[in-house]
Amino acid sequence: MRPVAYVRIAGSIDILPYKRFYAADKIPDLTGKVAVVTGGSGGIGAEICRYVMSLRLLAAFPKPNRQLAIHGAKVYILARGEARAQRIISEIKESRPSADLEFHELRLDSIAESIASAKALLQKVQRLDIVHLHAGFVVTSLEGTVDGLEPGIGIEHMGHFAFIMTLLPFLEKQSVDDVRIVVTSSRNHSLVPRPGIDFTTLGPSKPKDLDEVALRYGRAKLANVLMSNQLAKVLKSRGVTNVTVNSHDPGVIFTDLFKPIARELGCFGPLYLGWYKLISITPQEGALTALFLSTSPDVKGISGGYYVPIGRKAKCSKLAQDEALQKKLWEWSEEQMARVSSSS
Ligand SMILES: NC(=O)c1ccc[n+]([C@@H]2O[C@H](COP(=O)([O-])OP(=O)(O)OC[C@H]3O[C@@H](n4cnc5c(N)ncnc54)[C@H](OP(=O)(O)O)[C@@H]3O)[C@@H](O)[C@H]2O)c1
Repeated sequence: MRPVAYVRIAGSIDILPYKRFYAADKIPDLTGKVAVVTGGSGGIGAEICRYVMSLRLLAAFPKPNRQLAIHGAKVYILARGEARAQRIISEIKESRPSADLEFHELRLDSIAESIASAKALLQKVQRLDIVHLHAGFVVTSLEGTVDGLEPGIGIEHMGHFAFIMTLLPFLEKQSVDDVRIVVTSSRNHSLVPRPGIDFTTLGPSKPKDLDEVALRYGRAKLANVLMSNQLAKVLKSRGVTNVTVNSHDPGVIFTDLFKPIARELGCFGPLYLGWYKLISITPQEGALTALFLSTSPDVKGISGGYYVPIGRKAKCSKLAQDEALQKKLWEWSEEQMARVSSSS
C-alpha cells in the first residue's frame, strides 16, 4: 500500500479508548422481537447476534440462571455459507440453550438473489423489529458481481439496497411501532475524494494497487451512508413514522476483514495485522454502536443519523451529506433493480 493510504487510515483513527455512551448492560429486554443480521456469521456481526440473545442475562437476570430464562429476540443470521452461520448458532446455544436463532441464506452479490432472500424471509416471519445491514468485506480481486458490478458497490450497497427495498413495504405496514434499520458503514467513507461515486466506472476491474483497494472500500461505505440518509428522507416524505434508519462506524476491530490486504502485502502482512490488532477494540465492543442504534430507547424515533463508537452521534462526511449524490445513488440503484426485474 502506498504511504498515503497508511497516513489516511492512521489519521482517521480516534484516540483510544473510545468514549462510552452505550454498554451491553444497557441493552433492554427484547423478548418477542425479531431481528435480522446480514453478515451475522462472522466478526462483529456474530457479536451482534450474541448480544441480542444475551439480553435477558444482562438485563432481566442479574444473577445468571440461563436454563430458566425465557426466550429473547428471535435472530435470523443471514449469510452465504450455512456452515459458518451454524457454528455461530451452536456456540451461542452452548451458553444460552434457549436462544432462538436461525440461518437464512443471503447472497448479496446478486440483486435477484437478494430480492429472493428477502421474499423468502417474509414467508417465515410474522414481524420484523430490527434489521442490521451489516455484511461487508474488502475487495482485492477482479471478480464482479452476478450483475456485472464492482463488488464493493455491487455487494455492500446494491445487494443491501435490493434486500431492504423488498422488505420495506412489510416493515412499514406491519403493526410494529418501532422498527429499526441499522446500516454498518465505516469511518473510511470519509476518505473518498470528490465526486465520491463515478457512476460510469462501476463495472468489475482489478484495483491497481492497495491504495485503490482502500478507496474502493471507502466508496462502498460512502454508499452505505448515502443510502441510509436518503432512505430516512424517503420514509419521512411518505409520512412513515414506525421505521427509522441510521448508519454508523463500528470502530477499528480485528476481524477477518483485513486479511485480504495482509495477503496482498506478502511478507509485510503479519506486521500489518499485528499493527491492526494493537489498535483494535474487541468485536464485542465493536458491536455496541450497532446495538445502541437497534436497541436503545434513546434513539427511538431518530432517523438519518450517523454514529461512531461507542453510541456517539457524529457528522458523516460532506460527500455523504450531499443531497444530489444521495438522490443520484438512489435513482441509479432503483434502475439496477428494475433492470434485473425486467430481465427475469
Ligand atoms: N473490522 C473493522 O475494523 C471494521 C471497521 C469499520 C467497518 N467495518 C464493517 O463491519 C462489517 C463487518 O465487518 P467484520 O470486520 O465483522 O468482517 P468479517 O469478520 O469479515 O465479517 C464479514 C461478514 O460479511 C459477510 N459477507 C461477506 N460477503 C458477503 C456476501 N457476498 N453476501 C453475504 N454476506 C457476505 C460474511 O459472511 P459469509 O462470508 O459467511 O457469507 C461475514 O459474516 C462490514 O460491513 C465492515 O465494512 C468493520
